[in-house]
Amino acid sequence: MIRIEGGRPLRGTVRAAGSKNAALPAIMASLLTPEPVVLENIPHLLDVECALDLARALGKSVAWENSTAVLAGGKELAGEAPAELVGRMRASFLALGPVLARRGEAAMPLPGGCALGPRPVDLHLAGLRRLGAEFEVRGGTIFARARRLRGTTVYLDFPSVGATEQLLLAGALAQGETTVVNPAREPEVVDLGVLLTRMGAPVTWHEDRVTVRGRPELGGARHRVIPDRIEAGTYLLAGAITRGEVTVEGARPDHLDALLAKLLDAGAEVEAAEGSVSVRLRRRPEAVHVQTLPYPGFPTDLQPPIVAFLTTAQGRSTARETVFPARFSYVAALTRMGAQLQVSGDTLFADGVEALRGAPVEAPDIRAGAALVLAALAAEETTEIRGEEHLARGYEDLVGKLRTLGAEVCAAP
Ligand code: EPZ
Repeated sequence: MIRIEGGRPLRGTVRAAGSKNAALPAIMASLLTPEPVVLENIPHLLDVECALDLARALGKSVAWENSTAVLAGGKELAGEAPAELVGRMRASFLALGPVLARRGEAAMPLPGGCALGPRPVDLHLAGLRRLGAEFEVRGGTIFARARRLRGTTVYLDFPSVGATEQLLLAGALAQGETTVVNPAREPEVVDLGVLLTRMGAPVTWHEDRVTVRGRPELGGARHRVIPDRIEAGTYLLAGAITRGEVTVEGARPDHLDALLAKLLDAGAEVEAAEGSVSVRLRRRPEAVHVQTLPYPGFPTDLQPPIVAFLTTAQGRSTARETVFPARFSYVAALTRMGAQLQVSGDTLFADGVEALRGAPVEAPDIRAGAALVLAALAAEETTEIRGEEHLARGYEDLVGKLRTLGAEVCAAP
């Protein structure tokens, strides 16, 4: 449980950790080769530990110290991913493409991860089928087979981050070129492309598509993952909701355009320097309207945090969630803290209140948990947040970083 005494403006500087959502596919990319892959700026998160455990279980030797992970070996990958690892985290499903490409067969339990609606993997499977894979689902496990994956053109009905990454990973060892039309363009997907290119499978981006040129074998590489734009955005919102001034060092302003635009609309001062971003807000924010979209649209992962920020704005804000069907799981908890929220279909309405109250609340997933932390930092009293294991999945050293900014926060049993 995390206990927060709110009502204090946060002031100071924190450093952005490496991106969780870039680190996870990069770890899966190491399965594509027995050569050593050295990944730098890897954040210390439960989800990263889970992905490294999965790589180990599949046959890689893994060394992880400070923020560098070295994944080597695995001449023969195991064909079956342990259910308890895949069940814990959805991104584990990205092991399917690499194992299938290396072994010609794979068995993957259906993924778990946050409870964000159905979260199917139909786009992953449809795409891999286009590359020549065959699937059979038995007892919650997907059994895949493919003699040799052959590159082709795959159209995605939705620019799914995971499906795009799955196809780039599988295409890197397929025969010929694989083109994904209507791909996800999130910075984390682009970062995976940089790593695959370094491993010998050139990834090139075009107007409406991305291509990867498959090779029979890939080499090792050294790669530094990009900073975590969602973590950075969360701390900028922590500065804004507490009427303070926060600088996130190492944050990429060009990865945060949508959030920074909304913070400016809300009346905050934003400063985007070369290697850092700062936000300052001295008064109640103005209401703003947010709609989540695939990148470069407003990121769905910052929808719960920005709604927390808007609960004390002047007037009625709206947040339309177009990426995940059920991403308002934090509404009950914020309401208990005094927010005036209503959800109608895919849109949330927030009527700003003067101040939030402390209350005992439970975090249902990573980003909903972040929303509760932000609300607790703004509330005048004490808030106890259970479900902190979700926060540890996505935020490295959250308590330490908040303390650096002057927050009264402690982790209690
Ligand atoms: C990635 O999830 C991120 N996770 C999510 O971050 C992020 O919210 C999401 O992209 C959108 O940006 C990682 O990168 C590990 P999607 P992913 O495939 O790949 C539907 C966090 O907190 N869909 O783009 O699962 C799906 O149901 C996490 O860090 C299908 O219908 O996202 C959803 O509605 C939460 N069929 C939408 O697409 C499929 O085969 C977006 O999913 C795949 C997805």
